[in-house]
Order: sequence, then C-alpha cells, then structure tokens
Amino acid sequence: MTSATVGGPEGAAPGPVTLLVNAAQTITCAGAPRARRGAELADVSVSPGYGVAMQGDTIAAVAPDDVLRRQFPGAPEFDCARGLLAPGFVDSHTHAVFGAGRYAEHELRATGVPYLEIARQGGGIHASVRDFRARTDDELLALAGPRLARLAAGGVTTLEIKSGYGLSVPDELRALRVVRRLAEQGPLNVVATCMAAHEVPVEFRDRPAGRREWLDVICDEIYPQVAAEQLARFADVFCEPGVFGIAESRRLLHEGRAHGLIPKLHADELRDGGGAVLAAELEAVSADHLAAISPDGVRALAASSTVATLLPATMLFLGTGHQAPARSLVDAGAAIALASDFNPGTSPLQAFPLVLTLAVSVLRLSAAEAWLACTVNGAAALGLAGRTGQLTPGFRADVAVHAVEDYRALPYWFGERLCIGSWASGRACHQRR
Ligand code: NIG
Ligand code: FE
Repeated sequence: MTSATVGGPEGAAPGPVTLLVNAAQTITCAGAPRARRGAELADVSVSPGYGVAMQGDTIAAVAPDDVLRRQFPGAPEFDCARGLLAPGFVDSHTHAVFGAGRYAEHELRATGVPYLEIARQGGGIHASVRDFRARTDDELLALAGPRLARLAAGGVTTLEIKSGYGLSVPDELRALRVVRRLAEQGPLNVVATCMAAHEVPVEFRDRPAGRREWLDVICDEIYPQVAAEQLARFADVFCEPGVFGIAESRRLLHEGRAHGLIPKLHADELRDGGGAVLAAELEAVSADHLAAISPDGVRALAASSTVATLLPATMLFLGTGHQAPARSLVDAGAAIALASDFNPGTSPLQAFPLVLTLAVSVLRLSAAEAWLACTVNGAAALGLAGRTGQLTPGFRADVAVHAVEDYRALPYWFGERLCIGSWASGRACHQRR
C-alpha cells in the first residue's frame, strides 16, 4: 500500500502528518498480518535509517528520513534522538480496572500460603470484588487512568482489559462500561473482555446449587446484556482445577460465542487441567498463562490457531518458581504472545519492558522472539494482526520510541524507564526527554 491510498499529499488527507525521524535503529516487525511461528519469530525486520510518517490515526509511510521529508514537506518532526523506533506494544492480557492493591497477600504468599488457599479463605479475587463493588464508576476510572498512563510510558499503545472484579450482573456491566469510557477517552487503544467467569462469587459459592446458578447468571443474563450493549469483544474463563472445570468452561465459552463473544481462556496456570487442549478445541483466540501446561497441551496449541499467551511477570510475582515452557511451545510450532497480566493480585506490573527481560532471561526466548511476541503476536491474540503490531503503511499509527540504540538493549537494561515517546492511533500517549 502506498501513502496515497491512505490520503497522502494528493489524497483524501484524513489528518495532519507527523514524522518520526533520526532513529539509530528502526524495527518494523513487518510481514504477514498474522501470528508468527517458529523461524519467523527470529526476524524483527531491522530497517536502518527508516522513519515513520503518521497521518491521522494511520501509518502513511515507512521510509528513509530524507524520502519522508520529500514526500511530506514541512511536516512537524519528532526527533527520535538516535533511539529505537518500534511498533507500540500490544498488552493483550490485563485486569486493569480495579480498586486497591493487595499488599497483605503478597507477604502471606511469601510465608507459604498458596494463591488458591487465600481465595478459599475469601481473599484474593474476592477481596478485589468487595473493594470494586464499594467504589463508584468515577473512582474506578480515576484509578485506572494513571495506571494506563504508566503502561503507555513503557511503550504500550494497545491493551486488553478484562472485567471480573464485579461478579454480579450490575457490577460486571459497570466494569465493562468503565472499560468503554477508558477506550473513548483514549489515548490508548483499549479492547474489552468479559470475564464474569473469573471466580464463583462468595454469595453463590456458599450455597449448594450456587455454582450452577452463577454459571446460569453469566450465560442467561450477563452475556446477553454485554452483547446487547456491545460492551466486549471477548469472553474469558479462569479454567483451573479448583476454579472453573473443563465442562463448565466449555459451556461458558460456547454460550459466549453464541452472543458474539470470541473465546479466550486462562488455562493451566497453577495446575494442568486440560485448559490448553480445550482452548485449541474451541479455536479460542488465545490460551493464557500455561505455566503448568501438559505435553498434550503443547501439541494441541501447536496444531491450532490459538495464540499461547505467556505471562512471566505473574509467575515471578507468585514466587512459585514455575514458568511456562516457552521454548517447547515455540519449538513445537505454537504462536506465542507475551503480556503483563496487570492485576492487583498476581501481577501489579505497569513497567511493560520487564516482560521482555523476563522473556529472555527466564523463558529463554531470543530478544527478537520477545519483541514479536508482544507486538505482532500480541495483536493476533486480540484478533488485530492486520491493524497493529507492525510499522507498515495502512496499519494503525501505534508507535513507540525508546532511548536505546538496538532492540536487544531494551530487555537488557532492565528496570530502566527508557521509552521517550509513544503514540496510539496517532495520538500522543507519552513523551519524556
Ligand atoms: O490472571 N488467574 C486469574 N486471574 C488473574 C489474577 C487475578 C487476581 O488475583 O486478582 C491472573 O493471574
Ligand atoms: Fe489474568
């Protein structure tokens, strides 16, 4: 596609042009608009001397700086200051709308109390549910805003946000309406997921038929209303021994799909329960976590279109010493994505580049694999592989600049704040010199 087709100098001019120039290195991650696998994950498409022209919400051109200046004379420029010009990160798995942090649990786990035992005692997700229900929409929005800004300050330009701390009909809808307001207010691109199946709420759990009743509420009330208000694109289930089982998850995701909600799955996080195999069976867009995935699960995902989304910060923060078998997944041919899992219980991480460091140092991926997993493949995990994750003309202008001279340096200098600019759909999210 040439710039003219998106409104170049003689075109329909959908918006003002900004040039991003003077990068030491540019990685476009350009190529097929689908999840990359195997050897394709080795190539981030290093394009020396290239800049980007953003026009309105779209990438109009990716070309050497002098070519861009000739094509768009007089266009304002952002000086990349000999840094790295790259696609913005796609954080395809977060629970970013919540109230307070859960500091006590962090310490409790350190003394040996397991995550699911804390939940059994009414803490964990249930603690966040009590907190969520006690807050107004405006409070939740005010808490989420700065958190999203911190993600953007790490180079994230698109993020998925799940409901799942409401766990009642009105509160799940409220959560998704807050997500909608975050999407409308921008500047980040936000995608919503209904995760009413995050847990069985205590008021249902403590009655004999309660579990079954909660599933009925999700299927008969929440999904239809979410669909009617078009509040979410995906439905997700915490499929895990002790939370939702395989038959329950299958029912929920079938019902969700009947209401137009594309399946996603929290699968095999703490113990293998066959979640990855189920995700492949349902052709879910992604199966996430997978720290306890079985060899059958690896084979099933490798043979499927489902993206295996790995969340290494979560397993680090839980302190169990387990991580998903990333190398086995890639070597078997599965498409992997990486995400933050940003949430108050298991991953209070807003500094996204740490995910890349963990991918290399702990999951043993190459830097290129890590980059592609949180750009192109993160986009694929949200059904957006043709829209974002690449610096390609016609794609959304989702771009970030980092103060490093080489893409391998971002995972390397860990713990630093290196992003000096990010734009989502051409809107400035973050700038720091
Ligand atoms: O992805 N595993 C389930 N859900 C979240 C944690 C939610 C919480 O503890 O608040 C996760 O880790
Ligand atoms: Fe999660």
